[in-house]
Amino acid sequence: MQEILEFKDRAVFIAGGSSGINLGIADAFAQRGAKVAIMSRSQDRVDTAAAHLSRHGGIACGFAGDVRDPAAVVAALEAAHARLGDFDVLVSGAAGNFVSPALDMSPNAFKTVVDIDLLGTFNVLRQAHQYLRKPGASVINISAPQSFNPTIFQAHACAAKAGVDMLTRVLAIEWGGDGIRVNSIVPGPIGDTEGIRRLAPTEETRRAMEETIPLGRMGTRKEVADMALVLSSGLASFVTGAVIPVDGGSSLLGGRDYRETYKASVAARTAARTGAEHGA
Ligand code: NAP
Ligand code: COA
Repeated sequence: MQEILEFKDRAVFIAGGSSGINLGIADAFAQRGAKVAIMSRSQDRVDTAAAHLSRHGGIACGFAGDVRDPAAVVAALEAAHARLGDFDVLVSGAAGNFVSPALDMSPNAFKTVVDIDLLGTFNVLRQAHQYLRKPGASVINISAPQSFNPTIFQAHACAAKAGVDMLTRVLAIEWGGDGIRVNSIVPGPIGDTEGIRRLAPTEETRRAMEETIPLGRMGTRKEVADMALVLSSGLASFVTGAVIPVDGGSSLLGGRDYRETYKASVAARTAARTGAEHGA
């Protein structure tokens, strides 16, 4: 099993790979021998992340560019391809988010998140297709629960991530003939990330969020990275067009806190049973 999760000398490109969940994915591949290229807007952040990744001993390089800018995406992909060769794995995870009622979003505020998350994913996948290994490449879009949970103050992210998952399904069909698999990972709340710092900024809101997760805790970056490894391995060779939650079961409940309901139902059943036993 360990061997099938080895990625020695495989080439991996990760858009938005300079921090958080995406850097965790880059690290997991680098640790297993992959050559890794990351891209994000800040040259400082890609340089720091690439230096961190290179501690595993393989090639790790970073390119600065904004996924909203097709020319910048092409330049980063070209440069990464020149260093690494055809990509075995492509991850599109760049995203932006902030909490805001729709009425407080300007058209540009809404467009900004849609442009980064959805148009950015299109740009990365569309331009990378020429460099993907055919057959065999694994493409992974990093989605979010907002894709299917209508979420208050997240109109932009909900629209964008729903689009990302539909892009996953359509390209899985269009690119299946090339032997390219396209899947989405939908992380649930993942601790110690920028996303959670924005969505649940206080200890109280973090605890409330944990209450909505059947497994009772936030996930880790490693748990998301493990799914990316499996999806890119021979263990998932017949998996494409799938939208896979890695979320402790939170998507089952649409992000709602079910515990009070559960406790109330247990209390009601206990009361009914006790009443029956006492002949009530
Ligand atoms: P993060 O650390 O802020 O990661 C976002 C990454 O995207 C950074 O590397 C950032 O680097 C890059 N980026 C942002 N805008 C970009 C742009 N226009 N062009 C290129 N790169 C850009 O956030 P995270 O919380 O780990 O989230 C990572 C992914 O997981 C996102 O797709 C998010 O929607 C998804 N997700 C997160 C959670 C969670 O619990 N955190 C839950 C569900 C889904 P620069 O600033 O240098 O550009
Ligand atoms: N509420 C309402 N509108 C907001 C906002 C907020 N909290 N934050 C930004 N906006 C609006 C801006 O006012 C602007 O609209 P305007 O031109 O009509 O004034 C628009 O959004 C774009 O903002 P700007 O700061 O120019 O965008 P940017 O491209 O520099 O940065 C963001 C993009 C706003 C998403 C920024 O938060 C970012 O870079 N995020 C990346 C990290 C991240 O979000 N990580 C979590 C991933 S889940």
